[in-house]
Amino acid sequence: MTIISPSILSADFANLERDIKIVENAGADWIHVDVMDGHFVPNITIGVPVVKSLKKVTTLPLDVHLMIENPQNYIDAFARAGADILTFHYEAVSDPVKVVDLIKTKNIKAGISIKPKTSPEVLLPYLNKVDMILVMTVEPGFGGQEFMSDCAKKIEYLRKNASEDLIIQVDGGINAQTGKICKDYGANSLVAGSYIYNSSDIKAAIDSLK
Ligand code: DX5
Ligand code: ZN
Repeated sequence: MTIISPSILSADFANLERDIKIVENAGADWIHVDVMDGHFVPNITIGVPVVKSLKKVTTLPLDVHLMIENPQNYIDAFARAGADILTFHYEAVSDPVKVVDLIKTKNIKAGISIKPKTSPEVLLPYLNKVDMILVMTVEPGFGGQEFMSDCAKKIEYLRKNASEDLIIQVDGGINAQTGKICKDYGANSLVAGSYIYNSSDIKAAIDSLK
């Protein structure tokens, strides 16, 4: 089974409830929320208050992708707001274990993400400590970018070194074709923003990723 997590970065921010219901009814498993701070990445999106509001309008797990500096300072707030999975970037912290442990104290899932230029080897010490690894297949910051196939190869290496139940998620430029490549390498969760939300048949798009 592949966990499909539509990214609301490509939804209409004035109609988030409507756009979440649309993917919920079309078979989405999680809702991917991209949090950007204008420092770790060159874009600013949404934060804690929006997660809190989204929690009231969906029963799907909120898969919160933190593209921010000092994520350790915001774990408590995002957990209280209703995040079910909190993923931070390896590049943004000095002690990943500390941040994972902090997330775990909130009884939610913890994930670590790597940017395209970060080698997958750096994650080896953490594979049995986290619930999820997120492999970025674009430079984080914006939706609608082109899939970097070299980055997808990292999935194969990580899957070989991880237990079967580790969730390996991929994010960036995912569509039916690139999603298939990632699944063949061993990914079991796909994030897709523009492919799903720009599609004229959203259910067919989600089905094609599954
Ligand atoms: C990019 C975000 C992604 C983004 C993906 O930094 O992390 O989640 O929404 O968008 P697409 O699927 O359009 O590449
Ligand atoms: Zn994301």
